[in-house]
Amino acid sequence: MSETLIRKKLLTWYKKNQRVLPWRKTDDPYRIWVSEVMLQQTRVATVIPYYERFIRRFPEPESLGAADLQEVLKHWEGLGYYARARNLHKAAGIVWKEHGGAVPSDDKDFLRLPGVGEYIAAAVLSIAFGKPRAAVDGNVKRVLSRLFLIPEAVNDSAKHKKFKKQADTLLDVSRPAAYNQAVMELGALICVPRNPECAVCPLPEHCRAFREGKTDEYPKRKAAKSVPVYHIAAAILFHNEKIFIVRRQEKGLLGGLWEFPGGKVKKGENAQAACIRELREKTALRAEVQSYLCRVKHAYTHFKIEMDVFLCAYISGAVLLKGPTDYRWVRKAEIRDYPFPKSHLKALARLFPAV
Ligand code: ADE
Repeated sequence: MSETLIRKKLLTWYKKNQRVLPWRKTDDPYRIWVSEVMLQQTRVATVIPYYERFIRRFPEPESLGAADLQEVLKHWEGLGYYARARNLHKAAGIVWKEHGGAVPSDDKDFLRLPGVGEYIAAAVLSIAFGKPRAAVDGNVKRVLSRLFLIPEAVNDSAKHKKFKKQADTLLDVSRPAAYNQAVMELGALICVPRNPECAVCPLPEHCRAFREGKTDEYPKRKAAKSVPVYHIAAAILFHNEKIFIVRRQEKGLLGGLWEFPGGKVKKGENAQAACIRELREKTALRAEVQSYLCRVKHAYTHFKIEMDVFLCAYISGAVLLKGPTDYRWVRKAEIRDYPFPKSHLKALARLFPAV
């Protein structure tokens, strides 16, 4: 059967060509789990230094579960999708307290943990415990789409089942750890989105897209919706050599991170007026703009922001928060102890180029 041959060729190729990656040097389920959570939305090259620093500081579920969320977020700062860090932190606490520190190898127990969905469960249970579960991420979908000429769009979540089914059929149940990583690796190194390296692919005879000259047409993607751009104004507020920062609510976008207060600029409003208004509405502080610092652009999954940042001076008022959950007046030397979103880090880098 061609599936048997595909598995064999894939695994032979993987043994010879796999990258040396830090999470491939361990069989510790916790470390494999951490790596998969980081890799779920982020590229390998970006993940490596974060993974190493994270594991050095939180080497097992106990140290992660017992840590303060803020320190966990600080170790995640810049990686994005911070719900991953909040969930992993919570889940580690459960593993520590309810499972004696051992990552559960049972599907039901593992899937009950915060942040553990179908992909993470399949990846960890297969790689760490050798369970026959097919892990289906973006790389895997692209490989399957070309191999089997799957007409469904890889970015259409309603069609995910189609890819999962195909992945389950191809899975090598006797070597799921190597198999899953082999497909991912093929997608990362050879079967890349544009100009795939078919000349050095181990599977050209089996690949329908290659045989039919359609590798450029697959995978199919549905057109992405155009995303809105929000105009934001933010205040870097100074008083007595200290800077005012606020903490975002734990739920939602960038939850639990710190930032310079601000918000959306209204239609017809100028950014400077919006900055002062937002500061007053969210903190009850009165301030004046002293100068314009910069514009920061940042893209999130479903929208983009263009943020105008102003340097402001305190005038009057006591802090009364509406929205943020906490605040601090911090010195320049302390500011990097707090986890910030990337957009605010960009503004900080403008303000203090060497910090
Ligand atoms: N992407 C997701 N999981 C991965 C892994 N284990 N190795 C390399 N890339 C990955």
